[in-house]
Amino acid sequence: MARLNSPEELEKARQKILSKRDPNNLCISICAGAGCIASGASEVIAAFKEEIEKQGLGTDVDTKGTGCPGFCERGPVVVIYPEEICYLQVKPEDVPEIISQTIKEKKVVERLLYVDPTTGEKAIHESDITFYKNQERNVICNNIKIDSKSIDDYLAIDGYSALAKALSQMTSEEVVEEVKKSNLRGRGGAGFPAGRKWEGSRNAPEPIKYVIVNADEGDPGAFMDRALLEGNPHSILEGLIIGAYAIGAHEGYIYVRQEYPLAVENINLAIKQAEEYGFLGKNILGSGFDFKVIVHKGAGAFVCGESTALMTALEGRVGEPRPKYTRSNIKGLWERPSVLNNVETWANVPLIINKGADWFTQIGTEGSKGTKIFSLVGKITNTGLVEVPMGITLRDIIYKIGGGIPGGKKFKAVQTGGPSGGCIPEELLDLEVGFDELTKAGSMMGSGGMIVMDEDTCMVDVARYFINFLTDESCGKCVPCREGLRQMHRILTNITIGKGRASDIELLEELSETAVEASLCALGKSAPNPFLSTLRYFRDEYEAHIKEKRCPALSCKELISYHIDPVKCTACMICARKCPAVAVIGGKNKIHVIDQEKCTKCGTCFEVCPPRFGAVKKISGEPVPAAIPEEERIIIRKSKEK
Ligand SMILES: Cc1cc2nc3c(=O)[nH]c(=O)nc-3n(C[C@H](O)[C@H](O)[C@H](O)COP(=O)(O)O)c2cc1C
Ligand code: FES
Repeated sequence: MARLNSPEELEKARQKILSKRDPNNLCISICAGAGCIASGASEVIAAFKEEIEKQGLGTDVDTKGTGCPGFCERGPVVVIYPEEICYLQVKPEDVPEIISQTIKEKKVVERLLYVDPTTGEKAIHESDITFYKNQERNVICNNIKIDSKSIDDYLAIDGYSALAKALSQMTSEEVVEEVKKSNLRGRGGAGFPAGRKWEGSRNAPEPIKYVIVNADEGDPGAFMDRALLEGNPHSILEGLIIGAYAIGAHEGYIYVRQEYPLAVENINLAIKQAEEYGFLGKNILGSGFDFKVIVHKGAGAFVCGESTALMTALEGRVGEPRPKYTRSNIKGLWERPSVLNNVETWANVPLIINKGADWFTQIGTEGSKGTKIFSLVGKITNTGLVEVPMGITLRDIIYKIGGGIPGGKKFKAVQTGGPSGGCIPEELLDLEVGFDELTKAGSMMGSGGMIVMDEDTCMVDVARYFINFLTDESCGKCVPCREGLRQMHRILTNITIGKGRASDIELLEELSETAVEASLCALGKSAPNPFLSTLRYFRDEYEAHIKEKRCPALSCKELISYHIDPVKCTACMICARKCPAVAVIGGKNKIHVIDQEKCTKCGTCFEVCPPRFGAVKKISGEPVPAAIPEEERIIIRKSKEK
């Protein structure tokens, strides 16, 4: 395609693309996101192409490798349009049947459908799947509809129309006003209003300004930014170009972690295509506005996601935070006005420009507008990326979308906001999800991590785990974070191994206060959250560990023991055979006992003991019952009467 020199030429190009496409044509969309590729999507795509040829369907059926629709756990995901038939966990060997049955005979392959774990009902269409049904997908919805490597696919879904509108129908002030009016708040961490940030940069006197995409995504378990970059890179580019026009920047950066090779590949390709079509470069769409974008691959340090550390890394120096005497929208990259926004924040911009701030503000709560993508993981039936309207309750996310807690276990807490977020207990499940609501509850929105925990999770150990992560990721530049977190981790470890002291809680609170007050950047300032929130809602667990040397969740290895109930043991020998430490004593017809000296508390005996016997017991905070004497261990089995 030749360079497009005006909004009119863009519209003509779009019509040309659409005229060659029949919306009623059969199209097989196969997710080619990193998650599905890891589960064999490339082989599935190849199998579809081969089978379509083999069964003589040639040009009647399109195949598309698309972006991630979020249900990676059940990948590879295949959606057949126009009916939207959704097949999960598809393997290359399923492909001939899909072609002969669904494509040719219009019959559904039942075994590849989603089965609701509670009702047992099968869902034929993507929109019938409980995981998707209760979402409101405005940002991620196009991932499964387009080939992320094709700019024409993006144009076919109205791509770059918001840019054309901004450049031809709006002044840059009007663009800033619209974003301000939408009350779009940053999706990457602090929830700062994007419009206010843009306005600050726009009004700054320094003529050279920058726009930056934060695609560092360092939160463990989070992958919403990766899914957007891989699946719909043009939507982020379009938002970025609009932002650059609004503030008067002519250069932009995409800071993306190196560990996201597919995201890097797709965004680089998108930039190349956008340059060819004239959405980047000189005189964009004939407006006289010039803009170029550079991709910077980050080495994957969590702290480099922090705004000042990211800009320092972009400048080619060690990615460490610097004091924010002046906000970076006034004095940022190379000390020039710089607007840094998260991937998802940028992806919302074209929607706001196209549909208007009034449309956007209809979604969400008073203080949090629009939708948010969460990475729902942990002890939950359906895991994956979920996009929901702000204001939805945690209960609806966990039960209606996530399908509840598997294995009949009880919900205990949900951790939101990434490693420096907090844990929210069951009594707050009806909390409406929003920036201020989560902060008030002692957690935060962060970039959208959501880890569900069940009754088997020890909340002290959860705090220890996250503080350990943050200790490792601290850049070490300031003392309260570098030394304080290390001490907090040491004390929390002692508590989980039964060496906690009565004064530990107070000491941890003191260290937290210092880190919050005196750390250089938000890593240290927010790092005590996992401790403070678990203490706020689960203080009894801290006290049980310290005073009774008991782990109520029966999770901390040093505080638990296993023993075998002699009344329930049937001498089936399963645990004796499976114990890797050879700690189970007993043989045929002999009640088993666990040698406590040899036991490594791996829990294998507990897991393998058949539930109908339930003979292996896990205890904490109480002495292990004495083993019955050797001579009493014989089981006398009644012989069957003839
Ligand atoms: C330790 C640390 C890590 C962060 N990592 C990220 C990240 O990976 N991605 C991101 O968008 N924001 C991250 N942030 C937040 C950024 O500092 C910044 O607030 C954000 O990118 C601004 O964009 P937004 O207003 O669109 O959210 C991090 C903050 C801290 C303190
Ligand atoms: S990568 Fe395919 S559903 Fe997420």
